Amino acid sequence: MLEKLGRNLPCWCGSGRKYKVCHMEFDERIAEHKRMGDVVPTHKMIKNPAQIAKIKESAKVNVAVLDAVAAAICEDMPTSEIDRIVSETTKAYGAVPAPLHYQGYPYSVCTSVNSQVCHGFPSDKVILKSGDIVNVDCSTILDGYYSDSSRMFMIGDVSDAARKLVEVTKECMELGLEQVKPWGYLGDMGQAVNDHAKENGFSVVRDIGGHGVGIEFHEDPFVSYVTKRGTDMLLVPGMMFTIEPMVNMGSALYDVDPHNGWEISTRDGKLSAQWEIQVLVTEDGHEVISW
Ligand code: MF3
Ligand code: CO
Repeated sequence: MLEKLGRNLPCWCGSGRKYKVCHMEFDERIAEHKRMGDVVPTHKMIKNPAQIAKIKESAKVNVAVLDAVAAAICEDMPTSEIDRIVSETTKAYGAVPAPLHYQGYPYSVCTSVNSQVCHGFPSDKVILKSGDIVNVDCSTILDGYYSDSSRMFMIGDVSDAARKLVEVTKECMELGLEQVKPWGYLGDMGQAVNDHAKENGFSVVRDIGGHGVGIEFHEDPFVSYVTKRGTDMLLVPGMMFTIEPMVNMGSALYDVDPHNGWEISTRDGKLSAQWEIQVLVTEDGHEVISW
């Protein structure tokens, strides 16, 4: 990853400062980790302050859209209504819903109900009823910059078991977040998520995970929750990614809907929950960008 940059040339980060007074020491520290055998980030994964400011503007819309969903979601509502709220609220802020037409995805939001793991299609035939748990996953483009987060909603009277799954999944995300710090490892986060799910008798979906985000919808690195402490990618200031574990009540196995190629459900038909936040690695820890 280290381009051999002249010490007096402008830094690769776009600051306009000379490399030697900007990111040279930073690059040397990363190179040392690489020599020790660590997986290290590329410059492309590191956002500069101007980019971070733009992504935060996008995230303000993302959070406002989820807040609008939270205020309206209720029993007897078809999930197509959530799609309408997301589409209209996003547009009202001058933004664009990122899912719409993304790799052919046909809606503005994902609404994954009960045994659906992710990528659930909003539908006028899916009517929320008391006892349902539903993930609403919103992704936003503002002025070309991306934000992405999701929340769970519990409709009416939810069983104790379903409530526990929703709460533990949120705790998994929060415990993972606590581990995010510069010069730590993505695996510190992954193990914290996985340990907490397992301790509660749940399983974590393996091949679907989080991702870098901001300049594009889905960037490197892939963010797994089955990694071990001290392994996986080195974290450095300026990296931005999502923490979005999918936690299942039963087995971690899932199937993709053979008809539409998108909707993903647990193989055993048991419940699945997911929370997603977007996080920035800072000089002294982390900052939540979208939630
Ligand atoms: N919002 C999802 C994520 O958290 C991605 C969904 S892809 C889509 O990464 F096309 F379904 F929107
Ligand atoms: Co995401």
